[in-house]
Amino acid sequence: MTRKLGARLLSVVRKIPVCETLVDCGCDHGYVSIYASEKNLAKYITASDINEGPLKNAKKEIEAAGFSSRIKTVLTDGLSGIPRHDCVVIAGMGGETVFEIISRSEWTRDGCKLVLQPMTKSEILREELYRAGFSVYDESFVYENGHMYCIICAEYSGKTEYDLFEKYISRAGLSHENADEYISRVLRRLSYEYENKARAGTIDKEEKELRRAEIEELKKLCRQ
Ligand SMILES: C[S@@+](CC[C@H](N)C(=O)[O-])C[C@H]1O[C@@H](n2cnc3c(N)ncnc32)[C@H](O)[C@@H]1O
Repeated sequence: MTRKLGARLLSVVRKIPVCETLVDCGCDHGYVSIYASEKNLAKYITASDINEGPLKNAKKEIEAAGFSSRIKTVLTDGLSGIPRHDCVVIAGMGGETVFEIISRSEWTRDGCKLVLQPMTKSEILREELYRAGFSVYDESFVYENGHMYCIICAEYSGKTEYDLFEKYISRAGLSHENADEYISRVLRRLSYEYENKARAGTIDKEEKELRRAEIEELKKLCRQ
């Protein structure tokens, strides 16, 4: 029976393309892997986690759902020791950790689809992805318990140019129905951080100019 996923995880799993091989990295409860099995999204699924507790938890859930023969569980840091898969889901971790995991496995550049849901620092994740030659081909925004989460789908393209605003919302994300609300939230946070730093005198001229330019770029997007 299909488990009822929360809005955040449901938005994540809906971005998984039909493929041969899928990794659910940082699987914890294993719900992403179980959903992908139930919906026949991938033939072979690897559910991995760095910690024994969550992996044990995932194994129990996977067994109860009857997918033990289809989902392989692996105790590992990120994608270490995992061979190339067609799609990688990394949800529920900080943006910096998500990028670190991707960058440590060269095969993520080999036609692999990345479905990423950072809990924090999404701007660092986006910027690092662009700099490393990944393009964001889809971005969506979902509410859960008063928070707004972004789901970033990326693939290696070799293209590294990006506009200033794309650090905070990808070009693909601009057409999402919740984009305006997402930009407004980002703007409120950036303005608050900028004013606090300016008041405390902890911002140098260069950073001041950059932050102001970023805020102006985002304001322009809101007016469109
Ligand atoms: C908050 S849970 C998210 C679980 C699930 N992906 C979700 O979005 O609901 C984060 C999981 O990532 C695992 N984790 C953290 N760092 C990791 C790493 N470097 N490699 C693999 N798993 C990691 C944690 O052990 C934990 O189970």
